[in-house]
Amino acid sequence: MPHYCTLIPGDGIGPEVAQAAVRAVEATGVDIRWRRAELNEAIILEAGKTLPQYLLDSLNETRVGLKGPVTTPVAGGFQSVNVALRKALDLFANVRPVKTLPGIKTRFEDVEIDIVIFRENTEDLYSGLEHEIVRDVVTSLKVITRTASERIARYAFEYAQKNQRRQVIAIHKANIMKLADGLFLRCCREVAKQYSEIQYKELIVDNAAMQLVIRPETFDILLLPNLYGDIVSDLAAGLVGGLGIVPGANMGETHAVFEAVHGSAPDIAGQGKANPTALMLSSVMMLTHLGEQAAAHELQSAVEAVYREGKSLTGDVGGTASTEEFTDAVLKEIKG
Ligand code: NAI
Repeated sequence: MPHYCTLIPGDGIGPEVAQAAVRAVEATGVDIRWRRAELNEAIILEAGKTLPQYLLDSLNETRVGLKGPVTTPVAGGFQSVNVALRKALDLFANVRPVKTLPGIKTRFEDVEIDIVIFRENTEDLYSGLEHEIVRDVVTSLKVITRTASERIARYAFEYAQKNQRRQVIAIHKANIMKLADGLFLRCCREVAKQYSEIQYKELIVDNAAMQLVIRPETFDILLLPNLYGDIVSDLAAGLVGGLGIVPGANMGETHAVFEAVHGSAPDIAGQGKANPTALMLSSVMMLTHLGEQAAAHELQSAVEAVYREGKSLTGDVGGTASTEEFTDAVLKEIKG
């Protein structure tokens, strides 16, 4: 049976890394029929709509997406496409595994990092509820609900249980945001009680940021509201070699969209320099979701083999290879 998947290349480095990921997935021999849906700044500006109907129609048909990044204007302009998509499809769990790749040179070369981030994906300060009360006075509403907090906590603990992980740490700022982060924490504590075999801990976000840098190898699963999850994801990516290698999944009850942590990287777009590892490893998560465990394993192993060998790596991780050369090396491993 073929799998149908909506491919959203996005913009900036998106089309380059999407093409690389498609080549890698196809090399595993899995029968995937892509439904390509273009989405970029120009289309959004022309349509005057953040989410074109064809994109939602396609995702409602396939239920699975592989997505490149989409540029969002800073301090004005249209709403983030990424936030809008997560809300529209109720992709409530943003799952980001941050793991040391073999052979990669980082500041933490001598430690093995294996963290999985569970970021609530639909509310918090990303609700987009901002008001200019009077000139030069703005409020931005942070929305935290029991439903969303319990849902992400349960998702993280379920994952921990299924994958034999030992500890979940909830990250918060409930010493200051006593009501909002307080509710998030209460929900995490209540859910934690139902998983007594998994250790539960809490850390205030600023302390968590420091501890992550000092002893990253001791962290296991992180459970965070939306904004802290976004920031801590990039910090954690920095621990293992940068944004070029960290994958992600946006999971809902009915839909799943797989995308890297990184953005559209306008500084290197169109130069053939982008590292496609993050989207390739997001494709590994997608293949697992589709029940294609063997292909997922094959692609993961091929990427790891290229890193172990260290001869075809892109510039962001210390190599000189282009996006295409790295991809060719991965394909050679798969076919090898
Ligand atoms: P960014 O992640 O695009 O880039 C940050 C730095 O990391 C840059 O120096 C870039 O060259 C480097 N980098 C990122 N991905 C890389 C890769 N695959 N290979 C090699 N180097 C890589 O973050 P930035 O600059 O803050 O955002 C640029 C745009 O992307 C913004 O419009 C932002 O809103 C959007 N964005 C979109 C996301 C999405 O579609 N899911 C997620 C994050 C940002």
